[in-house]
Formats: sequence, structure tokens, C-alpha cells
Amino acid sequence: MKAELLYEGKAKKVYRKEGTMDQLVLAYKNDATAFNGKKKASFSGKGRLNNAISAQIFPYLLENGVETHFIEKINETEQLVWQTEIIPLEVVVRNLAAGSITKRLAIEVKTPFDPPVLELFYKDDALNDPLINDQHAFVLCNVTEAELEEIKKTALKVNRVLSELFQSINLKLVDFKLEFGRLASGCIVLADEISPDTCRLWDLDTEEKMDKDVFREDIGDLLGVYNEILRRLEDRS
Ligand code: C5P
Repeated sequence: MKAELLYEGKAKKVYRKEGTMDQLVLAYKNDATAFNGKKKASFSGKGRLNNAISAQIFPYLLENGVETHFIEKINETEQLVWQTEIIPLEVVVRNLAAGSITKRLAIEVKTPFDPPVLELFYKDDALNDPLINDQHAFVLCNVTEAELEEIKKTALKVNRVLSELFQSINLKLVDFKLEFGRLASGCIVLADEISPDTCRLWDLDTEEKMDKDVFREDIGDLLGVYNEILRRLEDRS
């Protein structure tokens, strides 16, 4: 199924699918990193959980009109996707204040954002993924004004669709990060992964953190909460 290894990131390996020119195999690793790779650990089973969670979320987005790179889950830790050229942009949408925005702008944790706050970061490890504005994105990310507008519109739609999905399983979607990629046709689609590594999810009753903050802040059992997210997604009616 897999041929050559094209790229190894912090959380996934990317292979070309044997015999194709436009499909990739994404292999989810067990590694967890935080603070731009400064904190690292491995959790046996995390790759399987993120693969399974992403494979629940991408088809749900498609059913709700969001085009993504996802084709299918092919085994426990791998999924097949369309090859895209990743746009070096991290699009973050926030419904409640948490994480970097609380420090950068001294906004109190849990401050609600209505409308949601959308932020752009330049995906560049050497620069520590700096916050950028639209004009920076035109210069650095090879996107036109119309494409960036479309990316932002899609990110806000993903927020509406996923906020409702998570609400239905008793979770608050606090914030999340999206990445987009360009298909060979030139079209831009949602890419990368959507999992508790890339979203903040708080239990609606207890406000328990059920995402990678468990690892960032050393406050509990990462595999336990990821398992619980998957169980709730699988059990939804
Ligand atoms: O760190 P910050 O508060 O800016 O993160 C906002 C959201 O984006 C969080 O859900 C976090 O998990 C996600 N994120 C990510 N990858 C990054 C930076 C942030 O998935 N490189």
C-alpha cells in the first residue's frame, strides 16, 4: 500500500500510496509534542485514537458540505488522503479564550468570543509559528485575497458544524487549528488532521479538559480522555 516516505512530521508520517501519483498514506504516530517540540513523549495507542477520531470527523464535515483531503481510513493507524501542497498557514478559530491568546493579549481564560476570533499563524518552526495578518499571508503563503477569504469562510463553517457535533456529545469546542492544502486541480481543501491534538475540548458539565492540554499541563491521563472522545463520537445517535 505505502511506497516511499515523503515527510515525517511531529505527529504523522506521510507516504505516497503505491502505484498512484495523487494519493498519500498518513500514518499517525504515538508521539505527542508541545511548545513547538520542546516537550515530547510517546503514548502507546495515541496514533490509533487520533486516526479513528479524524476518520469520524472528516466524513462528518463532508456530509455538511466541507471538502477535505480525506478518502478513507485504511487500518488502525493509517488513512488515505488526496495529495495536496500544504499552505503554510495555521488557521485558529476560538470560541472561548484559552491558550496563547490569554497570554498574548492578557484576556481572561473562558472569556466568550461571539463572533468567534479567527487568527492566522505562519507555519514555520524556525520562527515559532508567528501570528500574521492577511497581507503577510499573501506574501508568505502563496494565497490570493479571494482564496484567503474562502479559507476563512470555510474555517468559520467548520466551527459551526463541529461546535454542534461536539455539543451533541456534551463537549464545548473551545478552539481549534486547521490547515489547508492545494489539490493538483488548484482547489483548496481542508487537510492535516482534526483530533484532540488540534482542538481544545471541555466537558460541558465538569469543564474537564479532554484534549492535548492534558499533556501540555500534565493534568491527567491523555489516552483516557482521547479514548473517551472516540467513544462519545462512535456512540452518538
Ligand atoms: O496555542 P494556542 O492557544 O494558540 O492554540 C489554539 C488551538 O490550536 C488549540 O486547540 C491548539 O491545540 C491548536 N494548535 C495546534 N497546532 C499548533 C498550534 C495550535 O493544533 N501548532
